[in-house]
Amino acid sequence: MSRTVYLNGEYLPEAEAKVSIFDRGFVMADGVYEVTSVLGGKLLDFPGHLKRLARSLSELQMGNPLSDDEWLAIHRKLVELNAIDEGIIYLQVTRGNAGDRDFAFPAEDTPPTVVLFTQSKPGLAANPQAKTGLRVISVPDLRWSRRDIKTVQLLYPSLAKMEAKHRGVDDAWLVEDGFVTEGTSNNTYIVKDGKIITRQLSQDILHGITRASLLRYAAEAQMQIEERPFTIEEAQAADEAFFTSASAFVLPVVEIDGAKVGNGSAGPVATRLRELYLEESLKSAI
Ligand code: PDD
Repeated sequence: MSRTVYLNGEYLPEAEAKVSIFDRGFVMADGVYEVTSVLGGKLLDFPGHLKRLARSLSELQMGNPLSDDEWLAIHRKLVELNAIDEGIIYLQVTRGNAGDRDFAFPAEDTPPTVVLFTQSKPGLAANPQAKTGLRVISVPDLRWSRRDIKTVQLLYPSLAKMEAKHRGVDDAWLVEDGFVTEGTSNNTYIVKDGKIITRQLSQDILHGITRASLLRYAAEAQMQIEERPFTIEEAQAADEAFFTSASAFVLPVVEIDGAKVGNGSAGPVATRLRELYLEESLKSAI
């Protein structure tokens, strides 16, 4: 079934939504994005996603083309037009059609390109991987050093994901200077003696919106949290490992570089945190 998508103020059938070959997003990966999950037709953690979008745009010296109310209205309209019960909404803003290829930014009055589309994912909340867990490999983190900006330059994470696939596992954890930064498209955690350990925020990782909410809920539930980097060896020796993202919520990792984590099945802390996240984020879904 053809989706209805949003492009620069218009709701269009997906085949009619066209962007210039000179778009900065296409020739320079000059753009930012957000992914918001939808459960029961409602948006999870929406204010957090808008806040990060504003920050990403500002870090790249781009204006925010729409108000928070306008962003919300578009998200809601796309959910309605595409009858999304469970799934995600993808949003992208690029520096627009520069009319030619040039390293310098186009004129300041060049309108940005704004694209949003939906991906229906029935069964997102009831994902069986929450019970089976996922297997990951480690690979060097060869991305640029401003990973706190959610840009559309996703070639390296994509190559890392393919390396994982070729090696018969689900995902890759990225390692820099001996420590795990994050997953290809998620934030990473380990659990040791009941304590949740996750890398602290910096320019080295994306400031996950799911991460922020989950750590808040965990703290409210009196769980212990330590924000610091960890190595692959420490993760392999941990009681549990897991990751978070808007499209996965919380998912356990049961094997790292061929070594079982804990007893090799989804652990109680990750399982509890997934329940907690789903329960709490649905309360504030809009
Ligand atoms: N990825 N780290 C990276 C590198 C990511 O790409 C993502 C999200 C996260 C988790 O952030 P959040 O909790 O705000 O989704 C961490 C999205 C889902 C994607 O690219 O599809």
